[in-house]
Amino acid sequence: MKATAIAPSNIAFIKYWGKKEEVLRLPENGSVSMCLSNLLTTTTVEFSSDYKGDLVEIGGYKGDMGNKGDMGRIRIIEHLDRIRKMAGINLKAKVVTKNNFPTGTGLSSSASGFAALTLAGAKAAGLNLSEKELSILARQGSGSACRSIPDGFVEWLDGNTSETSYGVSIFPPEHWEICDVVAVVSREKKEISSTEGQKLTGTSPFFKTRILNIKNKILKIKEYIKYKKFTEFGEMTEAEALEMHAIMLTSQPSLIYLMPNSILLMKLVKKWRSEGLECYFTVNTGQDIHIIVEKKNESALCERLRSVEEVKEIIVNEAGKGTRIIDKHLF
Ligand code: DP6
Repeated sequence: MKATAIAPSNIAFIKYWGKKEEVLRLPENGSVSMCLSNLLTTTTVEFSSDYKGDLVEIGGYKGDMGNKGDMGRIRIIEHLDRIRKMAGINLKAKVVTKNNFPTGTGLSSSASGFAALTLAGAKAAGLNLSEKELSILARQGSGSACRSIPDGFVEWLDGNTSETSYGVSIFPPEHWEICDVVAVVSREKKEISSTEGQKLTGTSPFFKTRILNIKNKILKIKEYIKYKKFTEFGEMTEAEALEMHAIMLTSQPSLIYLMPNSILLMKLVKKWRSEGLECYFTVNTGQDIHIIVEKKNESALCERLRSVEEVKEIIVNEAGKGTRIIDKHLF
């Protein structure tokens, strides 16, 4: 009754920002993302009558104890309860989880965290779930986690019910050689979690306009990915990130996730682009900047990033596999 899973974080090109149903985490709109090959969570779960209560160890990155707001123990235990209910068991569990990247800075540790917990937990509880069922279950832990279950480029079908809201792979990782080069600009944790921030989306006067256009944007971005139209894809990805931040900035109360160094990087990306290095930024709820570049230009981009004093760490990702079981347990 012990299992371990490894799960990628993912970067959304068309974002999930706002829920139409809070408890089930049904999103206001669909979204499109790519699993990230080098931002990974590993989680071991064991259900046993030896445990008198649930034990949760959130390990960390270089001593970091994890983001208690986003990926806290309470949310993990609530997720174990969902798994226990599905499996018809009431054994307590031990969970050990660790990330290979900083948490709470906008790198979507709740996506990889809940995807890994879902697969390891389901397997440890004796459940044999399909990819769709795993994605539906992961979504209830953290919305973006449903996109970390399938491989490669993924669309989250928004759906109006729990059974119709899940992630599907639209292209395998090897479909397109693009990279997401993450520039870590600060290890400071965000003050407001994505879950809290999203409750404010409807207060922005621009939210209605966003929803009117979003279906068309999803159709377009899928076409750009399909035909590998990098310029159109990059322009739409960057504009989408700015649109989401415009919603955040104009919510009541306002949400400001970007830091001065995030803006610095965004401006540098535009400058490098004007100099001929084609790259585009995107950014989530946090300060770290994701820079999208074709593989052929990745080393040129990294070279420029290394010369920027404010960049604390560079993490290069390609499109990666989704969540899978591994043999090596954490305890
Ligand atoms: C900005 O998935 O963290 O990264 O469902 O409340 O756990 P909850 O939210 P979460 O939100 C992620 C928002 C985002 C955009 C995205 O990844 O699509």
